[in-house]
Amino acid sequence: MRVELVHITKRFGSTVAVDDFTATLADGQLIALLGPSGCGKSTLLNLLAGIIPVTGGRARFDEDDVTSWPPERRGVGLVFQNYALYPHMTVAQNISFPLEIKKVPKPERVRRINDIASMARVEELLDRRPDELSGGQQQRVAIARALVKQPRLLLLDEPLSNLDARLRLEMREEIRRVQRETGVTTVFVTHDQEEAMSISDQIVLMRAGKLQQRDPAQTLYHNPVNRFAAEFLGNPPINQIKGRVENGLFRTREGGVGIPLPINAACGNRPAILAVRAESFVLDEGGFPCEVAELFEIGKEEMASLRVGGAVVRAYLPLEGRSGKGDTVRVRLKPRGVFLFDEKTGERL
Ligand SMILES: Nc1ncnc2c1ncn2[C@@H]1O[C@H](COP(=O)(O)OP(=O)(O)OP(=O)(O)O)[C@@H](O)[C@H]1O
Ligand SMILES: [Mg+2]
Repeated sequence: MRVELVHITKRFGSTVAVDDFTATLADGQLIALLGPSGCGKSTLLNLLAGIIPVTGGRARFDEDDVTSWPPERRGVGLVFQNYALYPHMTVAQNISFPLEIKKVPKPERVRRINDIASMARVEELLDRRPDELSGGQQQRVAIARALVKQPRLLLLDEPLSNLDARLRLEMREEIRRVQRETGVTTVFVTHDQEEAMSISDQIVLMRAGKLQQRDPAQTLYHNPVNRFAAEFLGNPPINQIKGRVENGLFRTREGGVGIPLPINAACGNRPAILAVRAESFVLDEGGFPCEVAELFEIGKEEMASLRVGGAVVRAYLPLEGRSGKGDTVRVRLKPRGVFLFDEKTGERL
């Protein structure tokens, strides 16, 4: 099912939780809704589910305008941020519950519970109660319960936040698999950029209630629309140097060396931020000089802190055995992973 949000706004008193949000979510995709705490992700999910009414704007599911539809009419499966299972019910009863409410006859109920339990890999657990399950198992039951209704839209609100790192990784793959198998359009809320990058077809990036960018992970990473998007994705965080462009060179605010830009820099002489990903530096005899401030290793990668003008940046450079702390090295920037942003507005230049 395709979801269309048109100028959706939600106010709580003076708080604008979702601000004039317009986006289309394509049928059958897994969309990661990404943004910092408090940016309006859960609110947007609750608006999609119909649990809270919009202040303004319209929501469409395929051809249906569902803006004023109650939750039960929308055909949405929702897994909450703290995916509470009913503690006094067995796993089978938990999964069965939405079907009982819909008055699905018993034989069909049994068939659907077994199907979904097998897909979510909880078929061995059907007779247990939630307190007899691990976090990951509870998680799978919550997803099975949301899917058993055969929703048109599956909404998952930070479903992995209570799990340890390894289980998170595993469950991420599981969710991806179940989503592919069912083909259900899914919105997956997270504030973890790495999770969003690894799981989604598209990332919807939000900030303070506003849509920033909606793109596949790689596009967002390689072509951020603004400074916030560039900062939010990537590890280590993108380097940022303050200064301005003069005759194709970037002059740091503190003066000193001019950095030759590998990208088109027709942006006048206004204060700007040069943003460079750590992998976008290369050693080059003909490049600009910087001082090695620190050398360290992260896993199998060699990383250096470099002093450029007054700024310190982090770069993946193979310096081991060649240069040490305090040495001067010459580097240039690759065109990929280098961006200029307006210092005031953060817009891409
Ligand atoms: N029922 C409510 N009444 C008043 N303000 C609310 C209500 N629900 C949310 N808000 C406010 O709306 C904003 C968005 O909240 P929301 O829960 O959607 O954020 P979030 O992106 O899900 O954050 P988190 O990552 O921490 O879960 C916040 O400023 C929050 O305080
Ligand atoms: Mg939330």
